[in-house]
Amino acid sequence: MRLVLLGPPGAGKGTQALYIERAFAVPRIATGDIFRHNVGRETELGRAAKAYMERGDLVPDEVVIAMITERLDQPDAGNGFLLDGFPRTVPQAEALEDYLAAVGRPLDVVVRFTVPESEIVRRIVNRRSCPNDGEVYHLEYAPPKRDMVCDICGTPLVHRKDDTEAVVRRRLEEYHAKTEPLEAFYAERGLLRDVDSCGSVDDVTRRTLDLLDGLADGDAA
Ligand code: AP5
Repeated sequence: MRLVLLGPPGAGKGTQALYIERAFAVPRIATGDIFRHNVGRETELGRAAKAYMERGDLVPDEVVIAMITERLDQPDAGNGFLLDGFPRTVPQAEALEDYLAAVGRPLDVVVRFTVPESEIVRRIVNRRSCPNDGEVYHLEYAPPKRDMVCDICGTPLVHRKDDTEAVVRRRLEEYHAKTEPLEAFYAERGLLRDVDSCGSVDDVTRRTLDLLDGLADGDAA
């Protein structure tokens, strides 16, 4: 399975990516997580991305494309992958398409998570994340079992710097301007499928896995 998750900030991409990764045994490649890891370690890549992320702007295409193609070259991506947060612009989508055509491994499906904008801010400002394994929590909807540590690995949870209301509004502007055109890009290629991201996490997981199971069993995208 080679798939892309699309949707605005807070749509639930990261939450569902963890379930898809477990169900289909494909590596989850999350550009935001890779950037945050590098920002934390103050690498060259982290220094290139930090200011953009803190403002809620997209990191320049050339930085992201180089990082992703290098990641997709690694052997664990040879039998499938799950891209969470990439592509986010038409030039990124074109670069991905060219790369996958060159290696003879085209995408199977692009899953778009839909959620009303009123729900997005509520989800984002109350999110807490595990910096170690990427597990995602919500103070109200999906709280950790023990106060502010990851249920899986016990690492203290963090509140992302870009998870404030002002920065989320900027991220949404970027999404509408630069990422929404990908919906037409992938619809034209017959790859786009929608999952309603309203309701409980379990409901959304069920819808997502039903869709992907159907595709794995041979339903056309
Ligand atoms: P990134 O980390 O990818 O952030 P994002 O796309 O804005 O997505 P989020 O992580 O905010 O939301 P999500 O959809 O994963 O929601 P989640 O599952 O966590 O990118 C961050 C930054 O990196 C960008 O702004 C940019 O600067 C840079 N960047 C990354 N990729 C780039 C690229 N390709 N090009 C350029 N720049 C790039 O859920 C949110 C909350 O809701 C959680 O608390 C969760 O518990 C809760 N929740 C989830 N589902 C439900 C549900 N069904 N019901 C109730 N609560 C729910």
